[in-house]
Amino acid sequence: MKKILAFTGSNSSKSINKQLVNYACELINSGGTKAEVEVEVVLLEHYHAPIYGADLEESMGIPADIKELREKFLEVDAFIMGTPEHNGMVPAFLKNYLDWISRVDEGSIFNDRPVFLMATSPGARGGKSNLENLKRVLPYRGAKSIASFSLPSFFDNFKDGKILDNDLDKQLKDLISNFV
Ligand SMILES: Cc1cc2nc3c(=O)[nH]c(=O)nc-3n(C[C@H](O)[C@H](O)[C@H](O)COP(=O)(O)O)c2cc1C
Repeated sequence: MKKILAFTGSNSSKSINKQLVNYACELINSGGTKAEVEVEVVLLEHYHAPIYGADLEESMGIPADIKELREKFLEVDAFIMGTPEHNGMVPAFLKNYLDWISRVDEGSIFNDRPVFLMATSPGARGGKSNLENLKRVLPYRGAKSIASFSLPSFFDNFKDGKILDNDLDKQLKDLISNFV
């Protein structure tokens, strides 16, 4: 059985991006895509890592939790990565994990695996600026055939764990089916 690892670049317990990623994972796990695929959702905040620094890396090496996370990355066939947008960019919380992981294996993060990028925000652009930049740079970090979905105006379009707008819901379901 193929495996997908899903995670979100937010350390908020009420994260709207976690809610969106969980919905996408439920679509897969409930068998809606009719594919033999298993999704595991991990919380990055369970992996402890200080803010990356060259001096720190030299003195302490790669943190044990980062090595463990990296092993998980190597065990799967594809990724779902949801991310908030902070000032048009990747949140520092997520960037720190990506930076540490890139130090384990000479720059590669996703090791030629497909990545499904997701984003949402309370605003009308739904975190698109950050997604556009990620789509541009992540192929250089081993992300293969990137697909992406952004949900605008989260609090108008998402309720009780589901997307309210039928067109947006169909768009996500089609993208997820193709990805799987
Ligand atoms: C420091 C900071 C910067 C932000 N910058 C943006 C931004 O550039 N674009 C945007 O759509 N939302 C921005 N937001 C709002 C986030 O989209 C919002 O906080 C969202 O709930 C974060 O996702 P999360 O709940 O999954 O953590 C920002 C929030 C913070 C705290």
